[in-house]
Amino acid sequence: CGIVGYIGDKNTQEILVDGLRKLEYRGYDSAGISVFTDSGLQIVKAQGRMANLESKLEQHPLIGRAGIGHTRWATHGKPSDVNSHPHTDEKQKFSVVHNGIIENYLELKDELIRSGIHFVSETDTEVIAHLVAREYEGDIVKAVQKAVTYMRGAFALGVLTEHEPDKLVAVRQASPLVIGVGEGENFIGSDIPAILKYTRNVYILNDGEMAVLTKDAVELMSIEGNFISREMIHVDWDAVTAEKGGFDHFMLKEIHEQPKAYRDTMLGRVNDDGKGVHFSDLKLTAEQIRNIRNVQIIACGTAYHAGLVGRNIIEKLAHIPVETDVASEYRYRSPIVNKDTLVIVVSQSGETADTLAALREAQANGAHVIAITNVVGSSIARDADDVIATLAGPEIAVASTKAYTSQLIAFYLFGLYMAEIRGTQTTEEITRTLAAMDSLPEQVEKVLEMAPEIKEYAEHIAQHKHLFFIGRGVDYAVVQEGSLKLKEISYIHSEAYAAGELKHGTLALIEDGIPVIALATQEDVIEKTVSNIKEVKARGGEVMVVSYEENREDLLKSVDTVMTIPRTLPILSPALSVVVLQLLAYYASLALEHDVDKPRNLAKSVTVE
Ligand code: G6P
Repeated sequence: CGIVGYIGDKNTQEILVDGLRKLEYRGYDSAGISVFTDSGLQIVKAQGRMANLESKLEQHPLIGRAGIGHTRWATHGKPSDVNSHPHTDEKQKFSVVHNGIIENYLELKDELIRSGIHFVSETDTEVIAHLVAREYEGDIVKAVQKAVTYMRGAFALGVLTEHEPDKLVAVRQASPLVIGVGEGENFIGSDIPAILKYTRNVYILNDGEMAVLTKDAVELMSIEGNFISREMIHVDWDAVTAEKGGFDHFMLKEIHEQPKAYRDTMLGRVNDDGKGVHFSDLKLTAEQIRNIRNVQIIACGTAYHAGLVGRNIIEKLAHIPVETDVASEYRYRSPIVNKDTLVIVVSQSGETADTLAALREAQANGAHVIAITNVVGSSIARDADDVIATLAGPEIAVASTKAYTSQLIAFYLFGLYMAEIRGTQTTEEITRTLAAMDSLPEQVEKVLEMAPEIKEYAEHIAQHKHLFFIGRGVDYAVVQEGSLKLKEISYIHSEAYAAGELKHGTLALIEDGIPVIALATQEDVIEKTVSNIKEVKARGGEVMVVSYEENREDLLKSVDTVMTIPRTLPILSPALSVVVLQLLAYYASLALEHDVDKPRNLAKSVTVE
């Protein structure tokens, strides 16, 4: 979910709607705003995309000087008008927007119902509105502070009351929230882009903190009420980088931004002589790196898939045993982790709840935690012991592309860094890898030129209901991402298998005409992969393989279609091969006329467990 708030003399409705449009990537089951108007607090909300809310607002504009807004990704209660935020108390004197989950809401709800309160929605958020109303004794700040003491879970809140129309109260407890400071106006938002159009001066709230906004001032304090002084951050991002820049979809734009993202992520990390990398900003010492017994990589979704490649990279370059785990599993399986474990959490947004919880679990057990993230001011970045920033720029499409590949670049750089310190790679080997990495941006451009060929093949697979991906080694890691990408945005069912594993069960599903996409970029196992391809062909499967030009002729003896990527070192191939699979998913989704940037049921940033 995403929240936004405004207090000032400008057109409140317009500012809220603008902010919500920027936050739509966080969820778009429904949206709503509440504005303090001449006739009191008024709420307009609508199920579905922002456009529904906007057409309602055309019929019924809200004019006033303070307001809050929300775009929802349903957790408690199905998407519907009544479950949309803002929520309000029985007398409609208070309105609340909320991002996160109140874990004990059922308990609180029961208690409120027993005291005679009537609930209209199924949400956990409505509980907050009733609690604040119950606790109100003439001071909204105190009422919110009191209400919060009853609540367990993760929340970022924006609260307005008709009793004190000159105040907007915001609270942060484990869900992101920023405060924007203007002249004669102030803002709240779940992230910076939501308010960037109006101000570049922000405060980032920490967990357990709140802010009281009037049009002329912002007061920061702890939830207990102790005042806090904090330096304001000036954001000098370019708002235009968040726009589509001539492409039909954000996803396509972001796929095309990968060469730049590679260069930017490498920037300042490679020594001038090209013979090594430096991470002098890390607190992790060379001695710690020499003493690491094992590495655990933890993440969700696409970032997890980057972690699967990361495992291959670190094992190969730095010779340290690595396990990669999904965060929601890791945190509950009593992981064996201690001070000799290096934990690397990977998260584009830096806000994924499960990843953040896994980070804390690892830290509590004494591990040093490095975050690879695209959002430097994010919760994960702030909690980690060290941060390796991917400089991919804001990623808007729900399906992650440039964030994933930048995460790979971060793993290569960090892998080489550890290899240098541990002496597991010679200077020549490191220099060779860095030189090959230097060519990756140009090579990605070459892959992007394959778009027409990939589009044609995508239109073909779009006619199928099921398909399979296979690969070995890093190719296996990459096909898992390719398969996820395809599922996310084209809704075609696919599965990714280690090529050698297919015959142990899944081969039973191969029948005439079923498409199988194979990655074969690892020369040491290419013959084995070709044998697996033959097993598929023998059952009538139709095979497309991604490999190198030199292998084309040979491969054509056993497969139906070959696509070739520029030659690179075996370990670096994911940075090129995945681009083919990203384009494939993109064009398949396009062929099926789906909403590429906003696939059904999914959200860009998942700040709930
Ligand atoms: C959501 C997104 C995925 C993303 C995952 C992890 O599910 O839809 O694209 O990979 O969260 O997000 P993170 O921001 O932690 O990388």
